[in-house]
Formats: sequence, structure tokens, C-alpha cells
Amino acid sequence: MPKQLKPETVEAIKTMAARYPKPDGALLNALRLAEREFGFIDADACEAVANALGMSPAHVWGVSSFYTTFRKETDGKYLLYVCSTLPCAMRGSEKLFDYLSAKLGVKKDETTPDKLFTLKKVECLAACGTAPCMQVNEDYYESLTPELADQIIEDLRAGINPARHVTR
Ligand code: FES
Repeated sequence: MPKQLKPETVEAIKTMAARYPKPDGALLNALRLAEREFGFIDADACEAVANALGMSPAHVWGVSSFYTTFRKETDGKYLLYVCSTLPCAMRGSEKLFDYLSAKLGVKKDETTPDKLFTLKKVECLAACGTAPCMQVNEDYYESLTPELADQIIEDLRAGINPARHVTR
């Protein structure tokens, strides 16, 4: 039997959808609620959201798979989103991506065998003034250097919150 959203989540989605002329307006937030509830977005989660919004699962899947920020079942505990847009690229994000790729032994969109890290390349994270930038799950790390990246990875492996390394 496919996964079901909690009744209160379905109710929250329907309440959101009622604020828009079409249910599509609530789709991204509905997917975010489903992601929080299930831990990731898969075909079942898309079907549950589609049922709550009264739209086709294929449409929901199409939208969810377009955005890189929705967690997938195969993703690691920590999603490393390295910005690859021009300001970050001009300040070395490509080299940082390659550095992390070599350090972790994974390519773009791959997950380390210990399921801790998934390495992603993304477009602008809206922190261009402190490029290069990397987002780890919900946290930003700016003015990133290989040394700082090493420290972040070491801390995460040790179960320590590396937020103390955030540069502002
Ligand atoms: Fe990287 Fe904007 S270009 S945060």
C-alpha cells in the first residue's frame, strides 16, 4: 500500500491550496511538507501529494524532479550543494567542487558509501557577496576554502554542528 500523509498534513495542504486560484500554487509547499513527513520525495510521496491537491501524480513528479532541493531516498544524511553560478565560479567553486569530489570519492549527485554525504552542484544560492558558497542541508557556508571544507566534513563526520565555521 502506498504511503499516506497524516490527516493533519492533508488538511494543511488543502488549506494552503484554498488560498490559490489553482492548487498548483500550493504544490511546492505541499511537497516540502511531504518531504518533512516522509524524509524524502519518491513516487509514493508524489502520489500522496497529488491526492491531497487533486492533481495527477505525473505532474507532481515532474515538478518535484525539476528541483534539486527535494531530498531523494538515495541521498545521504548531508546534502552538499556547491554553487556553480558565475560569482562563485569566479571565486573558485569549481575547484572546491572537484576538491570535495576527490576527498569524498563521489561525483556529482553521488552519495558516499557510508550514506553520509551527497554531492550536488546547484545554481546561485543568493549569497554571491560571500562567494564561494556551499549549502549543507539547511545551513550556508560562505567564503569557502578547502581548509574550511575539510573542517566542515570532519565536524559532520564527528557529529558536530559545524555552524561555528560560518563566516559573516
Ligand atoms: Fe553563488 Fe550566488 S553565485 S551564491
